[in-house]
Amino acid sequence: MILDSHPQNLEKAVRAVQRGQLVAMPTETVYGLAANALSDEAVVKIFEVKGRPRFNPLIVHVPSLQDILSFAELPSCYEHFAKAFWPGPVTLVLKRRKEASLSLLVTAGLETVAVRIPHHPEALNLLKAVGLPLAAPSANKSGKVSPTTSTHVRDAFTEQEVAYVLEGGACEIGVESTILDLSLKEPTLLRPGGLSVEEMEAFLGKKIKQPQMFSHINAPGQLESHYAPSLPVRLNALNLQEGEMLLGFGSVETDFNLSKSGNLREAAANLFKMLRQLDEVKNIKRIAVSPIPEEGLGRAINDRLRRAAAPREGLSG
Ligand code: TXA
Ligand code: MG
Repeated sequence: MILDSHPQNLEKAVRAVQRGQLVAMPTETVYGLAANALSDEAVVKIFEVKGRPRFNPLIVHVPSLQDILSFAELPSCYEHFAKAFWPGPVTLVLKRRKEASLSLLVTAGLETVAVRIPHHPEALNLLKAVGLPLAAPSANKSGKVSPTTSTHVRDAFTEQEVAYVLEGGACEIGVESTILDLSLKEPTLLRPGGLSVEEMEAFLGKKIKQPQMFSHINAPGQLESHYAPSLPVRLNALNLQEGEMLLGFGSVETDFNLSKSGNLREAAANLFKMLRQLDEVKNIKRIAVSPIPEEGLGRAINDRLRRAAAPREGLSG
């Protein structure tokens, strides 16, 4: 099921996508489960195999800005922004063109569409070779931790569900893309992620709106519990309680340290892998997590950890 990088393997993956099958592709954030975004039949498989609520829309991936313009409107004042950060770990929510031929399942009936140009070479190779926009959520079962290696994906799905997984190594960033809504009056953050708010604000020369509560209407995927390991999670732990194992950050003693030197990039890249590893540790009842600073990639890390610690209802994405 896992295909290493080889022109013949890429061709296999391309044909599978064109036949309407699902192919998992590496991106710099997390692995995505890709389907032809123009085909209802292909897109519906994503919802089926993930067990994802149908009202939760998907991100459309393309290889270049030019490819976006047939289905979405990029306001001219944001062209520079798009060119500066794409390809990269940011998704833009744009007005969907009326004549867009995207499957309506992709946008779940919204008048906007989420778009991203990833920079992982294997993702770009697939997108260019297939010549279709690809809808791709993270390649995990709904509500579970996102995959950052090809084996995470292979272990979650059967070959009937996912035809191939393109090998792309461990994801460099390790948390999902930042989602910025440009369809509103003010640029608005819908999900903190791989591109920091600070970097975007420095480029735009203004503040980005950050809703206190991520509303279900604006960002239907932002249901509370998400990215959850099987074990319960306790945040901001300064010491260990009985039955706990520590997911550390900085100079603390534990087998699972996101970054001993306190580097937030390293911590993001280790987050999902270590949550999975902790889930496998025998005889522990809970994962305790060291405090993580709320800045740079720390916002995305804390967002995912809060969801992992949230009450387990209404799982999503
Ligand atoms: O890094 C990523 O973004 C990965 C890789 C594979 O690209 N994808 C990913 O997709 O994280 P997913 O489906 O797990 O998360 C997409 C999020 C969901 O919360 C969804 O609700 C939101 O994007 N979304 C999609 N379309 C939207 C729209 N039109 N308006 C607002 N939110 C939207
Ligand atoms: Mg997801």
